Amino acid sequence: MFRAVKHVVVVAKAKKSGAEPALSAFASHFSAASTAQRLAGKVAVITGGASGIGKATAAEFVRNGAKVVLADVQDDLGRAVAAELDADAACYTRCDVADEAQVAAAVDLAVARHGRLDVMFNNAGISGALTPVPLASLDITDFDRVMAVNARAMLAGVKHAARVMTPRRRGSIICTASTAGVLGSVAPHPYSVSKAAVLGLVRAVAGEMARSGVRVNAISPSYIPTPLVMRTMEEWYPKATAEERRRIVEQDVNEMEGTVLEAEDVARAALYLASDEAKYVNGHNLAVDGGYTVGKPPNMPAPAQ
Ligand SMILES: NC(=O)c1ccc[n+]([C@@H]2O[C@H](COP(=O)([O-])OP(=O)(O)OC[C@H]3O[C@@H](n4cnc5c(N)ncnc54)[C@H](O)[C@@H]3O)[C@@H](O)[C@H]2O)c1
Repeated sequence: MFRAVKHVVVVAKAKKSGAEPALSAFASHFSAASTAQRLAGKVAVITGGASGIGKATAAEFVRNGAKVVLADVQDDLGRAVAAELDADAACYTRCDVADEAQVAAAVDLAVARHGRLDVMFNNAGISGALTPVPLASLDITDFDRVMAVNARAMLAGVKHAARVMTPRRRGSIICTASTAGVLGSVAPHPYSVSKAAVLGLVRAVAGEMARSGVRVNAISPSYIPTPLVMRTMEEWYPKATAEERRRIVEQDVNEMEGTVLEAEDVARAALYLASDEAKYVNGHNLAVDGGYTVGKPPNMPAPAQ
């Protein structure tokens, strides 16, 4: 902001003197903005940070000046991800998000290590049983397991982030939902219900959080070939090669011509919501799906030519 004000002054002075502002004044302004660390000095907890979207987000956050605590149940992977990032900036802690006490401990670790928590990225998730079954045969214990990680744990994450953020009157909480929480029939029912619950959770708490200066938002990605999705593809297409399964995810499901959805795209959406650029964005579901959830062709034959 200060840089922007300074730039306006430079332009105004140049106009007054009749001179065109030097191109270098613009160039220096824009180059400074493009290299700015958008999370400088911020502290984040990322659940599910050992893999996929969480891992990509950890890298994006550290690149932008944040300190991150990776919370996951894959210890070797989590430690390796933290070690790959700047050791001063990233650490790993074992945290099964289905256990509220472990979520509380991950939040407390961030505060003990770095003095505060600015960003809570509730991102850990599981797919649940993958074999398609008719509704009448649905395994309700699978529903309980999926809800414990994808929905109940999100509420625990929001609760404990709020515990340390509301006294400081600031913070950004981000929850990974899914296109499956917006549309039915794109994933097994327990997963869909759990992700719809994440969107409901964000809507339920955003007003209360706003009055404490804390924002809560969701991100809903479409299919990305992370380990979670590739395990699903193996189950659904056992005869396909790894390359064919990847093609299904990256091309057949894809809405956007000429590009492919990657974990890094979700990481950049999280970066925006975590940063002060999103200071008035609250209770929002940021779909990163190429428009998949806003359109559906009608169930009728194509118009005659
Ligand atoms: N990949 C996609 O296409 C896609 C699309 C929409 C939403 N999502 C959601 O994105 C989030 C991240 O998934 P991903 O695709 O990166 O998959 P992933 O498998 O690469 O990462 C998920 C991570 O969550 C961790 N995790 C699972 N259960 C946990 C628990 N009880 N406690 C702590 N950590 C746990 C896993 O160990 C793993 O590291 C999930 O919530 C998923 O539902 C993914």
